[in-house]
Amino acid sequence: MIDLHVHILPGLDDGPRSWEAALQMARLAVADGITTVTATPHLFARRVVEMSRLNDADRILAAAEELRRRLKEADISLEVAVGCEAPLCPEMLELLEEGRLLTVNGKGRYLFLEMPETAIPPATEDICFRLISRGLTPILTHPERHPLFRDRPERLAGLVKLGCLAQITAGSITGDFGWRVSRFTRKLLKAGLVTVVASDAHDSRRRPPRISPAVARLRRWLGESQAQALVLDNPAKILAGQPLT
Ligand SMILES: [Fe+2]
Repeated sequence: MIDLHVHILPGLDDGPRSWEAALQMARLAVADGITTVTATPHLFARRVVEMSRLNDADRILAAAEELRRRLKEADISLEVAVGCEAPLCPEMLELLEEGRLLTVNGKGRYLFLEMPETAIPPATEDICFRLISRGLTPILTHPERHPLFRDRPERLAGLVKLGCLAQITAGSITGDFGWRVSRFTRKLLKAGLVTVVASDAHDSRRRPPRISPAVARLRRWLGESQAQALVLDNPAKILAGQPLT
């Protein structure tokens, strides 16, 4: 399996606090059957637009290289791809122009995009349209956990129609975020609005890189091939910068 959205680079955001903690996450991922993770730190360390705390492409690439070196040293067999989780903001378009915004695996084809916690700004569709016009497909991170998408699912359906993709969190499937989220998640999956399931792990305990329990449920809900598409086939195409169909 490929875990396409993981906070595993220490010191860049609210992920692990040390290299040892990052390695522990990596061990858990491997034990869960994950062969590749995409390290996707928040674009801004504290999740608010703050240029002095920007995780630009160079910073993320250097930290990922260090993680690969340490994994090899510790004999942990896990591939590490790179990306970032960008908040929806006008600044991101500028950062993209300057080559400082890291797309998934640096391919310039897909980008993880996070909504503000309690809002879906009116500019959302406009910014997504601008990204799509540049050939970049936004992957909306965990819309199932967003209260406004739950209240107005047609807004999410509209964004998907516009060309955005949706990534849901594995824990949302298994009830880690409560029954409302779990019920809405199932609805989105059944409606075919979801392209990727990932752990969005931040540590080893509270939010570990574990997706196999969710996959077991996906098999029951959607069947084997669709379950596999969500955690392997689609993530592989996204990492390769290829179209999904
Ligand atoms: Fe995340």
